[in-house]
Amino acid sequence: MFSMPSTTLVCDTEPWKDLKGHVKEIEKTHLHDLMNDVERCKSMMVEFDGILLDYSRQRVRQDTVEKLFKLAEEAHLKQKMDRMYGGERINSTENRSVLHIALRAPRDKVVCSDGKNVVPDVWTVLDKIKDFSERVRSGSWVGATGKVLKDVVAIGIGGSFLGPLFVHTALQTDPEAGESAKGRQLRFLANVDPIDVARNITGLNPETTLVVVVSKTFTTAETMLNARTLKEWIQASLGPQAVAKHMVAVSTNIPLVKEFGIDPANAFAFWDWVGGRYSVCSAVGVLPLSLQYGFPIVQKFLNGASSIDNHFYSTSFEKNIPVLLGLLSVWNVSFLGYPARVSMESNGKGVSIDGIPLPFEAGEIDFGEPGTNGQHSFYQLIHQVPVKPPPWFYLNMVATELKGQEWNEHGLWKLWEIKFGNDCVALPEVFHLGFFSMQLLVDASMLVPNVPMRGSVMLTNEVHLFSLVCIQFANLSKIVMIFYFEIDLPSISFKTFQGRVIPCDFIGIVKSQQPIYLKGEAVSNHDELMSNFFAQPDALAYGKTREQLLGEKVPNHLIPHKTFSGNRPSLSLLLPSLSAYNIGQLLAIYEHRIAVEGFIWGINSFDQWGVELGKSLATQVRKQLNLSRTKGEPVMGFNFSTSTLLTRYLELLAI
Ligand code: F6P
Repeated sequence: MFSMPSTTLVCDTEPWKDLKGHVKEIEKTHLHDLMNDVERCKSMMVEFDGILLDYSRQRVRQDTVEKLFKLAEEAHLKQKMDRMYGGERINSTENRSVLHIALRAPRDKVVCSDGKNVVPDVWTVLDKIKDFSERVRSGSWVGATGKVLKDVVAIGIGGSFLGPLFVHTALQTDPEAGESAKGRQLRFLANVDPIDVARNITGLNPETTLVVVVSKTFTTAETMLNARTLKEWIQASLGPQAVAKHMVAVSTNIPLVKEFGIDPANAFAFWDWVGGRYSVCSAVGVLPLSLQYGFPIVQKFLNGASSIDNHFYSTSFEKNIPVLLGLLSVWNVSFLGYPARVSMESNGKGVSIDGIPLPFEAGEIDFGEPGTNGQHSFYQLIHQVPVKPPPWFYLNMVATELKGQEWNEHGLWKLWEIKFGNDCVALPEVFHLGFFSMQLLVDASMLVPNVPMRGSVMLTNEVHLFSLVCIQFANLSKIVMIFYFEIDLPSISFKTFQGRVIPCDFIGIVKSQQPIYLKGEAVSNHDELMSNFFAQPDALAYGKTREQLLGEKVPNHLIPHKTFSGNRPSLSLLLPSLSAYNIGQLLAIYEHRIAVEGFIWGINSFDQWGVELGKSLATQVRKQLNLSRTKGEPVMGFNFSTSTLLTRYLELLAI
């Protein structure tokens, strides 16, 4: 059994330090060189159950991946996964186990929490959902006035909303799911803004609406206020007794469900070993989605997630999709310093699971857009260097090898160009040229970020301008034609040139849910979408060089605008289709990736104390508003800014 001393941070381990040193190696390498190594690319393709992962466009070599596996070993990744699957209380700050995998386990599987197999409890709730949803969908459970409940409003926020919304959005256009949802509507009410309530109930008839209140704690302020609001909406139109037929609940807190006025018989339980943000496979997602699409479709979604659970648990790291994704995230965030990722829960902890402050970044900012929407909005930021490098700088070079050649008849030579190893050419201005060393004034925009300069300096027989320089040469009997050099750029921070690199996850689907083939067009609409899926990773990896632009006769003044240094890492996941099963797989891959990151960083990926802080401050404001409204008490106990804003708010509202 492993035990990592509580004061040991992963950054103090040898594999971490080794990776830190390795960064310098990788910074010398551009993705277009890495992509030329076919063996490397082959080793970075991983397939499982129809899913293909290609991570060859990550800024890693095979030895980087090996080093990451060593880090995983040092961080006891496998043992931590075993502890999670074994139901140990790995969420130590809340003293809970982390068993969302049990939510999609087959009926005959054994998953224990505190020595008790929880799978039978899971299936009791799933069977209850199946039965209830079938009754509602078939019209054997009807509303207070005898009408079929064809519309569902799911009230919930955070994990009690986003996961179900994601699955609903993906299933909506699936032909099979769409067919079984015909004539039904599922809406989500999360935000507490009254505008959202208004938008949500517009066009709905309380007589045909079922409200599902989804809250793990049944105390979340926004959810409970929205639940009271819709309760009033139902009661105002159908009378107080209607709640029994029109409102059900999903929660771990059945006493509070009862107190709210919902019959516990109409409550669907889940358990404290399901984190809020990992709860979509519990009744949180399964109930509303089954009401909309029918339980059999949702079962397929659970099966997809279960398939990944098995893969994650039993596959060696080299072929383990969530493990690879998690390790690559750690590499990008903590070693290469890329703080964001275009894709989907941030770990984002400032302390280790044992409360020790972390001296490294542990979590990324996720954002994204479906299809090519991102390309037409924020991709410019991803492609180019938004931080302007200094336009010119001095470069000191020391020749490592010299090639001699006869001086020409004029006795004068001009420094013509510097060729870099990666084919980038700079036209420098010579500031001073000695025999073995020279100082140049170089246009910074010519540089490829993170690529150390290696190359040659050519001297041509084009004359004048550099006569001073050439005089020095003329004094020599043998004339130096070419300097071979290898240099580190002194005093230049490569990070400055790199800008904000944002690694991307591209998720592509082979078969569209709704293919369109226009007459006479061989390329389908989905092909068009996928063209971008295939092209963008290369655009990010390769960029566009000045030389290419010159070859394309791009006018000089446009060259800086059209030059892209490339070297932007991405990975591609190709799924056969977006069926319920594949959606389940995708969800589980991303859930497990977060766990892998947290296990490596040594943080708790399953609590969210940061979120609680905002909640408690809002509670103080709510108390103040209540006192000011009911007793006319002045605003007190807040800082100047908040007091001013609150007072203004109350004053304007009173007018
Ligand atoms: O704010 C974060 C969070 O605690 C999530 O984890 C949770 O899903 C959400 O709030 C809502 O909480 P609840 O389900 O208890 O209403």
